[in-house]
Amino acid sequence: MLSFSKIPNHIGIIMDGNGRWATKRGLPRYFGHKAGVKAIKRTILACQKFGIKYCTLFAFSTENWKRSKEEIDGIFSLLRDYLAVENNFFTKNKIKLNTIGDLSPFPDDLQNALKSTIEKTKNYDNLIVTIALNYGGRDDLVRAFNKMLKDKVENVDEKTILNYLDTSSLPEPDFVIRTSGEERISNFMLYQMAYSELYFPKVYWPDFNEKQLKKCLKIYQKRNRRYGGIK
Ligand code: IPE
Ligand code: IPE
Ligand code: MG
Repeated sequence: MLSFSKIPNHIGIIMDGNGRWATKRGLPRYFGHKAGVKAIKRTILACQKFGIKYCTLFAFSTENWKRSKEEIDGIFSLLRDYLAVENNFFTKNKIKLNTIGDLSPFPDDLQNALKSTIEKTKNYDNLIVTIALNYGGRDDLVRAFNKMLKDKVENVDEKTILNYLDTSSLPEPDFVIRTSGEERISNFMLYQMAYSELYFPKVYWPDFNEKQLKKCLKIYQKRNRRYGGIK
């Protein structure tokens, strides 16, 4: 049974396995990303249903630029179409959209689609969905340190660093899921994940759904978070 009193406040998801999902079906990788977008929508609605307050989705890493231009353009066009065409999705469901990562290298139309949805949804507070785009945990830290230098911050402590990261408005993630069976962090929220519970379901991201999320949450609820202490 899922206990509604022990739902993680903030979950992070490393959405992996789109390419393998498509290859397994004899399809080009693009179709995996396309099916992945549907899984994003399903998962966001499931988060809302389970009362999760913050959901942060890793969509494009600072290392993903190593992929072919064709694949990258495909991902960008899916994101843009999804954000423009499905713009209603966020407003209709009263979901606040947020991003982390350095958006400056992205095409203007994608940046504008994001900005417009962020602006339209900024007053919602029941579920905050953050999409990590051109995001890297190391890059987040490097940009934070450079901003601190620029602001001439003295006496940097752990809180100062948290406040300078892209995630400054978010609590630290309680639970991070990575689909596809790979068991690594791949440069996601490195600093913020110090005490996150981790889980690596074997399912490819395009097959992820409410049932899968529920299974993950049940696993989270069995964990005993100690933060270095004794319980
Ligand atoms: C995750 O799926 C999506 C992105 C990284 C953009 P992949 O594209 O990494 O799929 P696999 O890991 O090759 O199966
Ligand atoms: C991690 O997946 C990044 C995203 C899901 C956006 P990758 O597929 O890029 O990671 P590696 O290369 O397997 O570590
Ligand atoms: Mg991958």
